[in-house]
Amino acid sequence: MKHFTQFESKKLADSLIEKALAYKSHPRMEAAKGLGKKIGCIFLNPSLRTRASTQIAALNLGMDPIVMNMDKEGWALEMKEGAIMNKGTVEHIKDAAGVLGSYFDILAIRAFPSLTNKQEDIEDFIFNQFIKYSGVPVISLESAIRHPLQSLADMVTIHENVGQIKKPKVVLTWAPHIKAIPHAVANSFAEWAIGCGHDLTITHPEGYNLDPMFTQGAKIELDQQKALEGADFVYVKNWSAYNDYGKIVTTDNSWMLTEKHFKHAKKAKVMHCLPVRRNIEISDEILDGTRSLVQEQANNRIYAAQSVISHILG
Ligand code: CP
Repeated sequence: MKHFTQFESKKLADSLIEKALAYKSHPRMEAAKGLGKKIGCIFLNPSLRTRASTQIAALNLGMDPIVMNMDKEGWALEMKEGAIMNKGTVEHIKDAAGVLGSYFDILAIRAFPSLTNKQEDIEDFIFNQFIKYSGVPVISLESAIRHPLQSLADMVTIHENVGQIKKPKVVLTWAPHIKAIPHAVANSFAEWAIGCGHDLTITHPEGYNLDPMFTQGAKIELDQQKALEGADFVYVKNWSAYNDYGKIVTTDNSWMLTEKHFKHAKKAKVMHCLPVRRNIEISDEILDGTRSLVQEQANNRIYAAQSVISHILG
């Protein structure tokens, strides 16, 4: 069974990117491909882009999308195997996942990490429970450790903007934030950028190293200014500490991306998955200026999702 949970191969990534670009030119070119089929988009956490873009993608293929906001509309789910359910939880994940699997042809799940139980988060426990018990193909709408639909849209965006550059220098830079933020976007972006053959440098303050499982093949440079030298694309993202799991170790605002960071990367484009904290992570002048690709990335979320759903439909 095909699931879409992470980067698998350059061959598959290239074919998904190519198909996404074809759908971008002709969104309704396979408007009957999913007729009669239903996709259940199950959100255990909030979303704007992922929620809307996945539904539009499904509609473009003739599928019927149904969205459930489990955090507000579903029963409180019990996750523990063998739990005696005499407290707040009403329904066990294995029962809920089994039922949802019987209603839908494809399930798409968003399940953020706790940022308190590192082991459970690394194992992507909640997301994998849906794979285990639903019995249908599952698409990640962002799990505890990865956000592959976002990364695919990011790769499409780089592809569209790379011009004649053969191996673009891509810099993933940490940015400050007021909240403890998951690692999923940063992990996934690293995994896809490396897998797609880009020259990736990751820069962050001391204490913010990502899980090496996702960063093998990237250069790590703790001096942000040095890291940014000669960059073609700068991907800005906050994440909480990984070793001191889920903690905010610094809020040093010199890491906020402003125009003065581009002294030695004059032509660099700036990317962010959104939502972005303006003038905390990135300055207004960057987000509202010509370097910014953030709207294009968000638009590409539709075609990335359409490419993935189409791939699963076969
Ligand atoms: N980038 C992204 O996943 O946005 P949402 O959280 O709004 O879906």
